[in-house]
Amino acid sequence: ARVDKAGHRHFMAKEIAEQPAVLAEAIRHYLPADEDAVRLPGAGLDFSGVQRLTLVACGTAYYACLTAKYWFEKLARIPVEVDIASEFRYREPPLPAGTVALFVSQSGETADTLAALRYCRGKADRIVSVVNVPESSIARESDLALPIHAGVEIGVASTKAFTCQLAVLLILALKAAADRGEMTPEALSDHISALRGLPHLMNTALEADDEIRDAAQQLSSARDVLFLGRGLMFPLALEGALKLKEISYIHAEAYASGELKHGPIALIDSMMPVVVMAPKDALFDKTVSNMQEVMAREGKVMLISNPAGLAAAGDGVWLSIAMPDVQDAVAPILYAVPAQLLAYHTAVAKGTDVDQPRNLAKSVTVE
Ligand code: G6P
Repeated sequence: ARVDKAGHRHFMAKEIAEQPAVLAEAIRHYLPADEDAVRLPGAGLDFSGVQRLTLVACGTAYYACLTAKYWFEKLARIPVEVDIASEFRYREPPLPAGTVALFVSQSGETADTLAALRYCRGKADRIVSVVNVPESSIARESDLALPIHAGVEIGVASTKAFTCQLAVLLILALKAAADRGEMTPEALSDHISALRGLPHLMNTALEADDEIRDAAQQLSSARDVLFLGRGLMFPLALEGALKLKEISYIHAEAYASGELKHGPIALIDSMMPVVVMAPKDALFDKTVSNMQEVMAREGKVMLISNPAGLAAAGDGVWLSIAMPDVQDAVAPILYAVPAQLLAYHTAVAKGTDVDQPRNLAKSVTVE
């Protein structure tokens, strides 16, 4: 079927707006409506004997993997390695017994990811993929392919595929936690409700569109932008910086907030906006002190947080973007929305070709 922009100015805007619907669809496929259990297609996958997970991908899918590391390690207590496919494939990494290799790819055709998968054939106990295109090469060559149900994604900069990848990866981490007896039924049920509530919260996050458009207007004149995040917000900071550079051509980079003093603080001045993504969680106070270090050097902080976080951050914040309260584990999925909208509106303000950014391809099928 032909896909059109459904009244949006760009495919990217349409795909951002579609997220509550496609996410609900993805969640429905793995979390049957009246049970507090995870259902995987086919013969499924049992994580009880898994010793190690190796996650491999490129681009935005790689940042989904980095996020998943936090989930699998914290919730399911499985040691996780995450790698960029182009590095993994040539490094000849040993895969000890008990390793499950997991590949994440929207297209299922990225050459490096496919080559990394083929490297694991015969070495990993199981090859699993998380893909958007079920008939793709990566899906076909996996022992188990888990579709993300995002629907066709046209914008070169990945948006809805990213949040659906995250949802499926979190669901997989919950399954792993349950299989390994690392999570009580109550905690599992809490996480499942948080996931089920996410599409609704995402609609609320999308309502920040006007606020974010105004903030993007300010960002559009910057030459460099720094993104900071801690814990689950660190991979998302990386993704936010990637989105911004891909479509607005503004140089952006991301650091784990705690690394600020180990380098990027040297760059802080009134010219470089610092986007901080930080819901008020257990690590929030540490992030506040990082923001103070930035502000003490005339750095301009744009804080994306929930109302309690914005209140606690106090004066001195340059621009604030409010997100609804959300359970900790699912927060990166929700906070992907302002990261995407910020990049989108900055690119629109600059007049770049949002859906077809220069030099980039939707699917990189050559090395
Ligand atoms: C390209 C696209 C990115 C994407 C990456 C990986 O660089 O522009 O948006 O994240 O490839 O693609 P895949 O299809 O494997 O997820």
